[in-house]
Amino acid sequence: MALPERLILVCQSFRSGGDPKGLCHKQTNGLLQYIEEGILDRGLDCQVTGTGCLKQCELGPILVVQPDNWWFKNVNSEAAIDAILNGVEAGEPVSDYLI
Ligand code: FES
Repeated sequence: MALPERLILVCQSFRSGGDPKGLCHKQTNGLLQYIEEGILDRGLDCQVTGTGCLKQCELGPILVVQPDNWWFKNVNSEAAIDAILNGVEAGEPVSDYLI
């Protein structure tokens, strides 16, 4: 199986050492599935995955597109996902959510 062109990382707030979780995971419930569907709808060559805390909690929920290294904040709605995926499709990060 070929490797994906891009990875879309979505913070799910995991931390080591028993630290309290940040809030990203609470505000992205159901959005990973929506991202997956959005990737398929647009025919993007992307893989979506959940991550540990990305240390930007005050701006969360956080989503990162690699290898572009585009970091997005306040990604807590389908409208935000649509805007970000449209930007990935166009090859330009959407400025509304860019950190
Ligand atoms: S919990 Fe998401 S950046 Fe810390």
